Amino acid sequence: MENEKKKRNSFTGSLGFVLAAAGSAVGLGNIWRFPYLAAKDGGGLFLVIYLILVLTFGYALLTTEVAIGRKTKQSPLTAYSEIKKGWKGLGILAGLVPLIIMPYYCVIGGWVIKYFVAFLTGDGVAAAEDGYFNGFIAEEVWPLVFFAIFLGASAFIVFRGVNKGIESSSKIIMPILLILVIGISIFSVTLKHTDVAGVTRTGLEGLKVYVIPNFDGLTVSGFFTVLVDAMNQLFFSISVAMGIMVAYGSYVKDDQNLAKSINQIELCDTLVAVLAGVMIVPAVFTFMGTEGMNSSGPGLMFVTLPKVFESMGFAGNIIGCAFFAMVLFAAITSSVSVMEAVVSSLMDQFHISRFKACVIETVIAAIGGIFVCLGYNKLFFNITLPNGASAQVLDVLDYISNSVMMPLVALLTCILIGWIAKPKTIIDEVEKNGEKMGRKVLYIVMMKFLAPVFMVILLLKAFGIM
Ligand code: PHE
Repeated sequence: MENEKKKRNSFTGSLGFVLAAAGSAVGLGNIWRFPYLAAKDGGGLFLVIYLILVLTFGYALLTTEVAIGRKTKQSPLTAYSEIKKGWKGLGILAGLVPLIIMPYYCVIGGWVIKYFVAFLTGDGVAAAEDGYFNGFIAEEVWPLVFFAIFLGASAFIVFRGVNKGIESSSKIIMPILLILVIGISIFSVTLKHTDVAGVTRTGLEGLKVYVIPNFDGLTVSGFFTVLVDAMNQLFFSISVAMGIMVAYGSYVKDDQNLAKSINQIELCDTLVAVLAGVMIVPAVFTFMGTEGMNSSGPGLMFVTLPKVFESMGFAGNIIGCAFFAMVLFAAITSSVSVMEAVVSSLMDQFHISRFKACVIETVIAAIGGIFVCLGYNKLFFNITLPNGASAQVLDVLDYISNSVMMPLVALLTCILIGWIAKPKTIIDEVEKNGEKMGRKVLYIVMMKFLAPVFMVILLLKAFGIM
């Protein structure tokens, strides 16, 4: 065992870890959900609540997972039972989440490639047409091809290993991603457009809709909705409860300052989420008015935004191309992290090589992804989930992993750390190299009381009880 631990790879330094973890955290959720929620939930009000949660709730969960990884030097499947005997079940649950997410995340990654190619080849006008997106996902062959390319790219990076694959790719991708996000944000704020009815709107006005808190008609239950939305979003955004941060934490060297790295990861994730709003809300507002922001997810990214790019004329092709390249970068660093959580679990549990583990996970993801793609044509069905959403294969997998399993994993982690192994286990791990952990009392209160309550609320919502 000791030998094995010594052989384990590690990130070369804290920059490598921060960029890889931030790469995981910055994903589709930052781009297609955060701006929508902020616009829907009273602009600045959502932003303020979200920021408070980042510094409290997010901080506690992220610290916990990274510290569990570093302390045990194990991947999620085997880490929890090293913290406390008998908790293998939590490891299995946490290891299953990325296994379920990988296939559909890669299918969506494939859609992003498709749109990137469409704008690159000057086909953006067609991509903006009504029915283009639904037509594309209903096709039998092309979604599978793009899915395979995305999955293949992720598998290649993971196969190259922690340093040559994950760390080096994050070091290249993340800076480019940040530059693209900042560039597109500036462009979006400077937009101006007069529509057919002669109404002129500007990006600057759109920015106000996004950042200025709107308390009009805010009720207690409305406030509660904003709180739950922010909680749910944050939880998904920092990539916790899916084994990823445990796996990445296990590659962090013992002498590194964990608390500082965690702040930097959160800062990067939040910055990109807030800036995604600056990219999207003003642009959508300028060309479509406030009603434009009424969809999130695929509807926002693959239907609304192409229309906005098309309305920009020639510049739209370039911006569309830059935008989808940016999304592709955000998505690939996330899918790599999901895959690594599974691959490292297979390696630690079954003592197999990275190559073998990669092949196994790629085959599983390929089979799952084929079902997800077929869900829009041959295997099409439409069911209603307990939370009221209508669903195809992709949405069912998303519901099981995100809405049910992730809050459950987080709840059990809070019980394990807050009450059984005790918060001191994590605090000692963070302080191992002599650094002091800040916000200690807050951490303990979060893990013992508040975070478990939050998780129960999310679970009740998932089952349609609240
Ligand atoms: N944190 C990522 C995001 O905000 C989501 C994610 C990462 C999902 C990894 C699955 C796996 O989009």
